[in-house]
Amino acid sequence: MHRKVTALAHPNLALVKYWGKADERLNIPANSSISVNLSAATTLTSVAFAAGLAADEVTINGQDADRAAHSRIVRHLDRVRALAGIATRARVTSSNDFPASAGIASSASAFAALSLAAARAAGLALDPRALSILARQGSGSACRSIPDGFAEWVAGSDDASSYACQLAPADHWDLRITTAIIDVQPKEMPSSEGHRLAQTSPFYRARLAELPRTLEIVRRSLLDRDFRALGLAVEREAVSMHAIAMTASPRQEEWLSGIYYWQPATMRLIQAVQGWRRAGLPVYFTIDAGPNVHLLCEGANQAALEQALAGELAALGGSFIVSRPAAGARVIAESRS
Ligand code: DP6
Repeated sequence: MHRKVTALAHPNLALVKYWGKADERLNIPANSSISVNLSAATTLTSVAFAAGLAADEVTINGQDADRAAHSRIVRHLDRVRALAGIATRARVTSSNDFPASAGIASSASAFAALSLAAARAAGLALDPRALSILARQGSGSACRSIPDGFAEWVAGSDDASSYACQLAPADHWDLRITTAIIDVQPKEMPSSEGHRLAQTSPFYRARLAELPRTLEIVRRSLLDRDFRALGLAVEREAVSMHAIAMTASPRQEEWLSGIYYWQPATMRLIQAVQGWRRAGLPVYFTIDAGPNVHLLCEGANQAALEQALAGELAALGGSFIVSRPAAGARVIAESRS
């Protein structure tokens, strides 16, 4: 079995965030989450299992993977080998067309593409649910990059019940997601640490108690294409996640009182968004575990948003990339040798 499979996946942007785990080893989240795949960013990953290889070989963006990335990928290949009942080592080549620090979680597209390419190369025929479960084991948010368009990751309670399903296809709604990149430095606090510390915030329980209502509003406004209801809920939800991060108690860093992903430019864009809305431009923001701001608007308002944003970013020295809702993970090439 020498089959080389190349898969493509997009990162996804959480409209309702995954923040905190019920099971750290399996990436079972404390709450369900909702996301949209981002068309402007892509990971391409090829996997070939080859007899005779002494160890897994991993190349990322043209370079040998560093130790941490290599061992995380080997652990994932081990999951695929266990499912397929094989011991063969693999050659993995992966590349992203966006910077790892763009504020777009590259682990989501990376583990979605790797799961699909590796499963197929190992001869497995996983259904979408099994594939989403596999991707989740690599990186939680990766399970949401498997379905097309808009996805809901139902938290579940164990390995078999925690996976993402499609809420609506990519062409359901002409939304645009503009990612304003205001800092290209890698973030200091990885999201895995943020997940771990979430429960140290005194407001964590309040967040979890509010989430069923938030999920319901986001789910319904998405299906009804009610942009105002969606936008307000998405903004409040992002700030709720950051409130948890800011009020968590990092243990190792005694000098650090909380996790602050925001920078001055982040706050400046938040205020700009409120001003644009007051002036009649319907745009809403969300922010992941970093300083960059993702702006949501409907297609008809994209040109006006870009014009307004260009003015702000000129002052801040940033850039932006524009996505539409995108398809899910897919195989793009397969060859036998
Ligand atoms: C802020 O999926 O990167 O982007 O499961 O530890 O790999 P691991 O975490 P990860 O966390 C993503 C956190 C987030 C919110 C989200 O995407 O829902």
